[in-house]
Amino acid sequence: MTNNGSVRHAIAIYPGSFDPLTMGHMDVIERAAAIFQRVLVAVVVNPQKREPLFTLEERKRMIAASVHDAGLGNVDVTDFRGLLADFVRAQNVDVIVKGLRFVSDFENEMSTALMNRSLSSVDTVFMPSDPRYSFISSSMVKEVFFLGGTIDEYVPLAVLRTMRDKRESLR
Ligand code: PNS
Repeated sequence: MTNNGSVRHAIAIYPGSFDPLTMGHMDVIERAAAIFQRVLVAVVVNPQKREPLFTLEERKRMIAASVHDAGLGNVDVTDFRGLLADFVRAQNVDVIVKGLRFVSDFENEMSTALMNRSLSSVDTVFMPSDPRYSFISSSMVKEVFFLGGTIDEYVPLAVLRTMRDKRESLR
């Protein structure tokens, strides 16, 4: 997998919008950090889907604080714009990590993984979501929170605090 053939020495990238980070994302980060030497959480600057609720700096800060609180010393947070394949090559990353919740995730992620490998020669490793978090998504967490529901179980504390601040600033 790496130049010396060891997974333990591989550098993994975990890309996403993280608008915001959820416990599902955190679970993937923690498990990847236990497998790989270093995990780079890469926040896309402009998600294709829609305008993010949180700024790039807010999204990165929430991840950095959550990773710090979880005591993960081999995880770094960065950002990228444009093609993931270009960023992966520029950073000398060995493997892309993606979490899978449902079959529908697999359908999208499979073609993305093949395209990314074709463009960069870097493979994607899929990590099955922990069943506790398989129904959580950033968009659902935002909807529940802004409609008054409790999301404490679904996001790290640093995210909950930032979401409360965001709600205040939008009032
Ligand atoms: O958290 P998300 O929104 O599922 O993350 C999607 C993301 C950011 C990983 C994906 O959209 C991406 O890699 N965007 C960068 C642009 C790119 O490389 N597109 C081609 C992929 S085939």
